[in-house]
Amino acid sequence: MRLDKFVCKSTNLSRVQAVECIRAGNVVVNGLAVLVASSQVHENNTITLNAQLLIPREFRYLMIHKPANTICSNVDEAYPSLFSGLDIERSDELHVAGRLDADTTGLVLATDDGRWSFDIIHPQKDCTKVYRVGLSQNIDEAQILDLPLQFTAGLQLQGEAGLTRPAQLQILSPKEVLLSITEGKFHQVKRMFASIGNRVVRLHREKIGEVSLDIKVGTWRYLTAAEVVSFKSKPQSTLSQEGQ
Ligand code: URA
Repeated sequence: MRLDKFVCKSTNLSRVQAVECIRAGNVVVNGLAVLVASSQVHENNTITLNAQLLIPREFRYLMIHKPANTICSNVDEAYPSLFSGLDIERSDELHVAGRLDADTTGLVLATDDGRWSFDIIHPQKDCTKVYRVGLSQNIDEAQILDLPLQFTAGLQLQGEAGLTRPAQLQILSPKEVLLSITEGKFHQVKRMFASIGNRVVRLHREKIGEVSLDIKVGTWRYLTAAEVVSFKSKPQSTLSQEGQ
């Protein structure tokens, strides 16, 4: 992680204050003053500020039930940030593991642990996200058997070179489906349905990996230890073989 981030994670200093301390030569990494705030350091390094050992705070892992008309950013823009109004300390240190559009509701995982969120976001890690999708057009009788096969085989999204990864489609009613996918391209679900001539009118994420949304809209909770470890990393060798 960057040295300025490490200093922030171990103190109550802002990023600007941390950079000032580093540039002033007050931060020492393994016995040497390091003056460049962007230098990479490891949690195991011995790092001091004004001769005091810095110990970073524990990583945090939480679920948020995102309301509609909020954005998955730390700052308010055209819509308020999903962190606004939530009683979460230092929410500026958190990032979300897989963004939702402003009009999408449901499960968002947030953390300050970049390695953990990588395992959720990276398509080759095969982490399944389940969406409940409301559609503008009926799925008619003739499509009931064929459509799930099309989603499994892969769809051609506009502007993309390859097909989508295999996805599971469960038809709940003519205008409502459950869709399970392992990738998260920009507007992925909306573009998948656009590619078959339909339109998403409601989108709600219910589940990521083994973690299901179980809190009220506009609230949050910490993940349990079991939920945190359920996003286990796949060995690197498996990933490189898949990429071939
Ligand atoms: N796919 C979309 O199109 N939008 C989302 O918010 C999430 C997945």
